[in-house]
Amino acid sequence: MKLPVIITNSKNYHTGYGEEGMKIVQLHKKIVHELGISMAVAVPITDVQNVARSVNIPIFAQHIDPVVAGKGTGSILAEAVKEAGAFGTLLNHSEKRIPFDVIDASIKRAREVGLYTVVCCESPEEAFEIAKLDPDLIAYEPPELIGGTVSVATAKPDVIRRVVEIVGEDHKILVGAGVKNAEDVRVSLDLGAVGVLLASGVMQAKDPEWVLRDLGKGMRKF
Ligand code: G3P
Repeated sequence: MKLPVIITNSKNYHTGYGEEGMKIVQLHKKIVHELGISMAVAVPITDVQNVARSVNIPIFAQHIDPVVAGKGTGSILAEAVKEAGAFGTLLNHSEKRIPFDVIDASIKRAREVGLYTVVCCESPEEAFEIAKLDPDLIAYEPPELIGGTVSVATAKPDVIRRVVEIVGEDHKILVGAGVKNAEDVRVSLDLGAVGVLLASGVMQAKDPEWVLRDLGKGMRKF
């Protein structure tokens, strides 16, 4: 996946699944082609296959479980997600926290089947621990700002700097929470992140196409 990147997490917003979810993903594809930037979407598991077959941008599952094929009713199998066409998976999102050993096992399962991993964390300390597991990207999202009007780039520039510094040059950081416009993207990249992870700014926007284009413009000088 080309970096820097904007990843929209469609969560379980009404606009994020089924036909509406497909429209949002298609808008991402449109802006990617228009601006020549990198964008991806993390969709509900039930939508991965349908969406991944329709677009040529990276599609992420919002979660997998570290199970192997066989028993495990109701768990999300890495092989199945891969076969459905996903490029990667989010793990340990603030709304889907898992213990450290489960993060470790899930990264290993993802790697076995060739899924790219974006592992979320809530603090520099957690970023430091997660970096030891060597995921493809680490996403720092302060939980108190998720879904709010103040962005992580505005409220926590020092913490972003600290996260980037603490994980060193070997690990790349996304930042998320409250990201809504080009300036948030620009500031995040200036602070050393390789992209942003966002949800409500796009999923609840009156005009998501306008928002996506604006966000994309924030990446243009990079
Ligand atoms: O995964 C992205 C997310 O948790 C941030 O949400 O709504 O603050 O952009 P939001």
